[in-house]
Amino acid sequence: MRVSSSRAADPRNRSSDDVRFFRGWLRRPLVMGAVSPSSRRLGRAMAASVPVGPGMADMAVLEIGPGTGAVTQCLIDRGVPEESLVLAEYSPEFCELLASRFPKARIVRGDAYAPNGDVEKALAGRSVAAVVSGLPLFTKPDSVREAVISGSLDRMAPGSPFIQFSYALTLPVKPDRIGASVEIGSWVKLNLPPARVLVYRRG
Ligand SMILES: C[S@@+](CC[C@H](N)C(=O)[O-])C[C@H]1O[C@@H](n2cnc3c(N)ncnc32)[C@H](O)[C@@H]1O
Repeated sequence: MRVSSSRAADPRNRSSDDVRFFRGWLRRPLVMGAVSPSSRRLGRAMAASVPVGPGMADMAVLEIGPGTGAVTQCLIDRGVPEESLVLAEYSPEFCELLASRFPKARIVRGDAYAPNGDVEKALAGRSVAAVVSGLPLFTKPDSVREAVISGSLDRMAPGSPFIQFSYALTLPVKPDRIGASVEIGSWVKLNLPPARVLVYRRG
């Protein structure tokens, strides 16, 4: 579904995003999985693993669980064209906000865990260069976590990244469970709470 916003574009105001995020967490803590948006340092660390350049021009970059767009902005700063972005977010309020901030991106209001659901329809068969995830995977059982990473890797060419951040000391999915490898980044200590970037690949 394409969400268009009639509201005036919001200023990218860190403190108003913090308030929105915290309100969302009070309402649905397991869906939000965090009390504040990711820092720019963490967003930049995630974006660094996304391939960019002329060869990527026709490909989509799928972000699942983009929230208020903190990581999305870092993807654009890295050089991912805004029109290449497909943003799949569960919260209708965040979808409105994303539509006002990133009017050339495709916004999908839906459940990013659902295979062959709205996200797949929005991609409309396009090749995906990378999947960037802010989903709170630890709120889901192992089988669901494995399915979302494995399903994303299945959809992409060998070597393409599934990029996840995590606050946890343990991995949300052991790579051998899904026939993948994982690169584990160093802790971004200035994120609240500290987090690290995990990049799963196959092939
Ligand atoms: C931890 S926040 C991360 C937000 C953002 N990526 C960031 O780093 O600031 C998790 C986000 O995932 C969204 N989310 C949770 N479950 C989802 C689902 N099943 N499908 C799509 N989005 C989901 C939440 O609404 C929230 O915006």
